[in-house]
Amino acid sequence: MTVVNTISEVRKIVKQWKREGMTVGLVPTMGYLHEGHQSLIRAACENDKVVVSIFLNPMQFGPDEDLASYPRDIQRDKTKCMEAGADLIFAPDPEEMYCDNFQSYVDVDLLTKELCGLTRPCHFRGVCTVVTKLFNIVTPDRAYFGQKDAQQLAVIKRMTEDLNMDIEIIGCPIVREKDGLAKSSRNTYLSDEERKAALVLSQAVKLGENMVNNGEKDCEKVISAMTDIINSEPLARIDYVKITSLLTMQQVKHIDEPVLAAVAVYIGRTRLIDNFSFNQI
Ligand code: PAJ
Repeated sequence: MTVVNTISEVRKIVKQWKREGMTVGLVPTMGYLHEGHQSLIRAACENDKVVVSIFLNPMQFGPDEDLASYPRDIQRDKTKCMEAGADLIFAPDPEEMYCDNFQSYVDVDLLTKELCGLTRPCHFRGVCTVVTKLFNIVTPDRAYFGQKDAQQLAVIKRMTEDLNMDIEIIGCPIVREKDGLAKSSRNTYLSDEERKAALVLSQAVKLGENMVNNGEKDCEKVISAMTDIINSEPLARIDYVKITSLLTMQQVKHIDEPVLAAVAVYIGRTRLIDNFSFNQI
């Protein structure tokens, strides 16, 4: 496995692979990798070569968010990438990705105005801009994203279709801890007490999913049951509990189309997300 830090080095390696007729899969990450990231890398092994980008993208963090404290450990990340079967890590510095005079952005409109877009207004612009740059640098055949960030996945799919990017976007299932908590680099922020409290997210998601699987179609009832679980935990503060169309991210009242049920909850100062989607109508 090779590790490079510059755009020109990645381009040189990928061009050679393509000359040899190989397919390339890309797994974009912000580092501090866990089994969720590794599951994407393993899925990407359906390609001849797998590139993992590790870039803590300043543009997708708001001024009061956790950019400065976000966990980093490139040595550990290298081991995780190797274990999962990556061929190349692209780990640029911010200066390599954003020149002093940088002024071009990629914005997806309606989808980014809902759910996390309400609390994090510039977040998806940062995500779409960096992912477009990574796509242009790595030129993958396929790119892999987790359903854990379901809105991000929907936004990236919209962007690639709208802008005719010739890249297949693959969504991969949420990987969880044994007790149900969705794996996240941000789980490292939680104290022991908060870690226990954080279980209300997956408990609410599981309850909601069971209700919907058992035929409940009234979103208000599902949301109310999920909200009750989360509110039963004193350390939890709800950002949102919503059921939206999987396609438009607009809230729906009745489940008669594929939906996303998504929660964002502060546990102490840490904002965590979880979700389930329901496709069988
Ligand atoms: P990051 O949070 O590092 O996540 C990288 C990828 O791993 C995303 O596609 C995310 O959905 C996926 N992932 C995280 N936790 C997961 C879990 N428990 N199960 C399955 N997949 C999981 O998302 C980002 O970085 C950034 O926004 C990025 C796309 C890299 C752009 O900067």
